[in-house]
Amino acid sequence: MKFSVVASALALSGTAVARPKAYSHIGKKLPTTTIANIEVVDTQLVRDAITEVKKFIPLQPYLYNHVMRSWLFGAAAFNNNATLKAQIDLEAHALGTLLHDLGWDMRPDSPWVTKEQRFEVDGGAGALQFIRSHNCSKNQWDETREQWVYDAIALQAISGIPDYKSMQTQWMIKSVGFEFPGPRSPLIKDADYDSILAEFPNDTLFRGTNYTFTWMASTKPDATYNTYIQDFGTAYVPGFNATGHRLFDVIQGGLQAEIAANPGTHL
Ligand SMILES: *[C@@H]1O[C@H](CO)[C@@H](O)[C@H](O)[C@H]1NC(C)=O
Ligand SMILES: *[C@@H]1O[C@H](CO)[C@@H](O)[C@H](O)[C@H]1NC(C)=O
Ligand SMILES: *[C@@H]1O[C@H](CO)[C@@H](O)[C@H](O)[C@H]1NC(C)=O
Ligand SMILES: *[C@@H]1O[C@H](CO)[C@@H](O)[C@H](O)[C@H]1NC(C)=O
Ligand SMILES: *[C@@H]1O[C@H](CO)[C@@H](O)[C@H](O)[C@H]1NC(C)=O
Repeated sequence: MKFSVVASALALSGTAVARPKAYSHIGKKLPTTTIANIEVVDTQLVRDAITEVKKFIPLQPYLYNHVMRSWLFGAAAFNNNATLKAQIDLEAHALGTLLHDLGWDMRPDSPWVTKEQRFEVDGGAGALQFIRSHNCSKNQWDETREQWVYDAIALQAISGIPDYKSMQTQWMIKSVGFEFPGPRSPLIKDADYDSILAEFPNDTLFRGTNYTFTWMASTKPDATYNTYIQDFGTAYVPGFNATGHRLFDVIQGGLQAEIAANPGTHL
C-alpha cells in the first residue's frame, strides 16, 4: 500500500472515529445523600423520580414503600461491596428501581397506565417518557442507558429471561428481588435491612400486590391473558375467563384445524 493511501486512511479514521461521548454514569462521582441511613445517589433526576412515586402515597402507600425499598436494598448491597459499586450506573439503577411499577398506578388519571399493555410495558414506556421529559437528563441518556432501564422494568417478573442482559439491568431486577419473602440476603447488612424496613415498612406489601393485580385483571383483562396476572383474574374477578385467549388455545385451535385437514398423529 502506498504511503499516501495509508495517510489518507488514517486521516479518515481520525475524523470518523470521534471519541464517543461517555453517557454511562458507571464509576462517575455523583452527589449523594442519605435515606433510611443508606447512602444513595442524589441527582436532580433521582429527586424528581422520588417526587413522582410519592404521588402513590394517598391511594397505594404499599407501592411507594415497595419501590423505595427496592432502590434502597440495591443501594445497600452496593455500599457493602466497593468492587460491585464501581461497576454500577447508580443513577440508572435508581431510575430502574424507583420507576419499575409505574404500571401499578391505580389513580384514575394515571399518566402511565394503558388499557392495552401489560403493566411491565406501561412501566417501561413510562420510565422512558419520564427520563426524556426531564431536562436534567438532556445529553446524559443515550439508548444504552435507556435500554438498561426499559429492559429491567419490562422483564422484571419473567424469571430467567434477563439472565444474559446487561449487569445494569440484572441489578435493577435483583434489587426488586430482595423484596421477596425468605431469609435475608448476605449481600445486605442486617442493620441496613432494619433501617430500610423501619422507614418503609413492608407489612402490607402482599395485600397491596393482590389488590393491584386483581384490579388489573378486572380493568384490563386483555392485557393480562398469558401473564401471571391472569391467575388473579381467574381467582378473584367474577366473569373473568381466560379460556380462548391463551396461547394454548390458539395452538389447540391450529392443531384441530391441522388434524381435520390431514388426520393422523404423525409428526
Ligand atoms: C463483590 O462484587 C464483585 C463484583 O461483582 C464480586 O466479584 C465479588 O464476589 C463481590 N464480593 C462479595 C463479598 O460478594
Ligand atoms: C424543559 O426544556 C424545555 C425546552 O428547552 C422547556 O420548554 C420546558 O419548560 C423545560 N421543562 C422543565 C421542567 O424545566
Ligand atoms: C418484610 O421484612 C421482614 C424482615 O426482613 C421479612 O422477614 C418479611 O418476610 C418481609 N415481609 C414480606 C411480606 O415480604
Ligand atoms: C385479593 O384481592 C381481591 C380483590 O381486592 C379480594 O377480593 C381478595 O379477597 C383478596 N384476597 C385475600 C386473601 O385477601
Ligand atoms: C370459559 O370460556 C370457555 C370458552 O368460551 C367456556 O367453554 C367455559 O365454560 C368458560 N368457563 C367458565 C368458568 O365460565
